[in-house]
Amino acid sequence: MAISASSPSKIILCGEHFVVYGAPAISIPVEPRNSATLSEIPVRDEIRLKSSLGEGVIKKDGSYEGAPALSNLAATYKFLHDKLGIGGGFDAKLSYSGVPKGMGASASVCSAFAYALCKSYGMNPTEQLIFDATQAGELVAHGARASGIDAITVIRGRPQMFQRHFNDSPRFDFHPFSLALPEHTCFMVADTYRGVRSSTLDMVKKFAHGVEVGSTLPPELDSGQRERIISPYMPFYEKIKAQLKPDGDQKLLGALLDRNHTLLAERGVSCDEIDEAVEVAKGAGALGAKLTAAGGKGGAVLIYCRKFDTFAITDALAKRNYRAFELRVANKGTEVGEKKG
Ligand code: MEV
Repeated sequence: MAISASSPSKIILCGEHFVVYGAPAISIPVEPRNSATLSEIPVRDEIRLKSSLGEGVIKKDGSYEGAPALSNLAATYKFLHDKLGIGGGFDAKLSYSGVPKGMGASASVCSAFAYALCKSYGMNPTEQLIFDATQAGELVAHGARASGIDAITVIRGRPQMFQRHFNDSPRFDFHPFSLALPEHTCFMVADTYRGVRSSTLDMVKKFAHGVEVGSTLPPELDSGQRERIISPYMPFYEKIKAQLKPDGDQKLLGALLDRNHTLLAERGVSCDEIDEAVEVAKGAGALGAKLTAAGGKGGAVLIYCRKFDTFAITDALAKRNYRAFELRVANKGTEVGEKKG
């Protein structure tokens, strides 16, 4: 029998990187979806992974051999194995939708994989279980600093206001909200990939360097140090949030996103291609543009524009070999697909 599960992709509207240190951030689940399909095989002690990013094998004890890009799935598996005794016996076909880096593909595939694995064992996993299993994979993909925002956004499939707390309980605070934009405006994404892709882990380390905390992890900093890191961003969160309504000020929202980009670039997580795509989009009429998520080489750019400017912006970016497309907000989180066989 084969069981398939899927999750949406995501973008971060504001708060990436700062969220790692306790700032609130806004994230949005978007199409297209990524999926994992598990088919039973007679070899009970392994899971064979196949995807466009390469292949790999997870052994029953969680040890992994294969493409490094899939090693996060071994961590997700190990979490479920240790907690619930889930074992091997599957071919896993992982389908990455090809969204630009920064749109949550790793969390999306991890959560779909975790869900399909639980379902294959006849379980009805809770949201918390899928979050914890996905976050185990994210800690591999983002290093020990993964905030949890990617995992919760793709699992819930609703726009989220997300904040990580360090000293009090609960550790994560997330509130779904209904996303509205000033009338006649929309978001686009540009893909700046030109053969080199920085890893999220490297960019999270680069930001740590940019805010002068080196290798000290966020929970090891004192609250005053974390406050120093997030305080330049905090006014943007409040002001951006205030414009997310049909009668919001589109020019102001665009300007705030521009300034949020500058804040991130000053901390070292932009790159020449991202800065160029931001400039090209702005030159073609965008109201604002910023890097979204980790940034770095091959990172995604979030463009905010009037709907009637989307063609001009797509065209101007295509002339510089940057693919761009209008964002479609997703309305479903992780869910099981059809069972076959
Ligand atoms: C990556 O999508 C978002 C970052 O803030 C890392 C994280 O929050 O785990 C860069």
